[in-house]
Amino acid sequence: MTDEVSGAPAAPAPDRTVTGASIRLDSVVKRYKGQDRPAVARLDLEIEAGEIVAFVGPSGCGKTTTLKMINRLIEPTEGRIFIGDRDVTREDPDKLRQSIGYVIQSGGLFPHWTVAKNVGAIPRVLGWDKKRIAERTEYLLDLVGLDPATFADRLPKDMSGGQQQRVGVARALAADPPVLLMDEPFGAVDPITRVRLQDSLIAIQHELGKTIVIVTHDFEEATKLGDKVLILSEGGHVEQYARPEEILTAPATPFVEEFVGSGAKLAYLTVSRVRDVEVDEVITARVGESSAAVIQRAKAANQTWVVVVDGEGRPRSWPTLAELASKSEVSDFLDRRLPVVARSSTLNDALDAMLATSQGAALVTDGRGAVVGSLGIGSVTEVIRTKLAEGQPEAEDSYTSYVDGAVSAPTPVVAADEGAGSAGPS
Ligand SMILES: Nc1ncnc2c1ncn2[C@@H]1O[C@H](COP(=O)(O)OP(=O)(O)O)[C@@H](O)[C@H]1O
Ligand SMILES: [Mg+2]
Repeated sequence: MTDEVSGAPAAPAPDRTVTGASIRLDSVVKRYKGQDRPAVARLDLEIEAGEIVAFVGPSGCGKTTTLKMINRLIEPTEGRIFIGDRDVTREDPDKLRQSIGYVIQSGGLFPHWTVAKNVGAIPRVLGWDKKRIAERTEYLLDLVGLDPATFADRLPKDMSGGQQQRVGVARALAADPPVLLMDEPFGAVDPITRVRLQDSLIAIQHELGKTIVIVTHDFEEATKLGDKVLILSEGGHVEQYARPEEILTAPATPFVEEFVGSGAKLAYLTVSRVRDVEVDEVITARVGESSAAVIQRAKAANQTWVVVVDGEGRPRSWPTLAELASKSEVSDFLDRRLPVVARSSTLNDALDAMLATSQGAALVTDGRGAVVGSLGIGSVTEVIRTKLAEGQPEAEDSYTSYVDGAVSAPTPVVAADEGAGSAGPS
């Protein structure tokens, strides 16, 4: 990545390499023994190569069943499933599963195996030599944001839930499968870790161009991660399959409308990304630099604070110039409560990060965690204001066109739980 620290808007993404394969479900049915209704009644679905598709819907609607039919952890009762041109319903299921990455909640790691042994599991089955496995493991740990030197020999129990989940993703990618299936992978981690894992998945997807199918029950997660979102109701019935913006602006059925429900109030915040907003320039400093020199640099750029970064450009702290001046050299203090968001984060994530740390701004990082600028709360509210103005034509009864005493309607009452999204000042 060659992100510059500047206020210029991000350059459009270059044509991405697609290493994924398309997936096609053709009249797929699943009836479990002893159940009178099919779990999946009849599903037709096409997923484009290199896209992320999120399956979302209420519990029991058939998301997991559908996902597991793709790698045949569950056998379809009827129908065909194709990956690329291959009819996988005719393939040996063990072989098939070696060519499809699969990630479950909490990573699903083997507890008595080190991280490296976990990641190398499938390559060992495939008979790769040791050197190739070691190189691949190092590459993948780095890709998912874990330092190989620190983590390769650790056991899962000595890692956080989020770190274990990262290893789960690395393991699923080990044999470079064209398709990655994920079943509620971020369901068991705290909200802040969850946002980081989501952003990391988006960055990985941009780098590798795999086809990813992710199951979630969280609509916001689905719209954030999915290039397309599949909304299912009971029996694996397709309510809508479309891009997130389309689902939010044109829900296909009353079911979708209700399902999107309260989430829609935040729609603009969940479909708008940090990368869509111009970030502010930041001045960076290295640990051990002369404070006076940094202060001079900051003042020349009209900045009142700077970002102290590590060797990889990742933020450590964001002292004010007064704080810098209290020491002769830039200190190695590591601020664990920095609000940090990725460019793929939604504006809703950015607001959450600011609110969680009681700050009026957040630092913006690239896919590898290097700081590329900052985002102020004002820029976020500006986006909401603009979007609301676009979405809602000028109200008929405005303050300026109102003639005193013309209407004797009662004072409008806004329910407390309606939130500012729908009832803000026009
Ligand atoms: N092994 C099974 N045997 C019988 N019924 C099952 C089995 N697995 C799932 N079901 C049923 O199939 C339906 C869909 O389940 P599932 O695909 O797990 O839903 P979701 O992942 O959307 O919550 C549910 O009614 C569930 O009870
Ligand atoms: Mg499920």
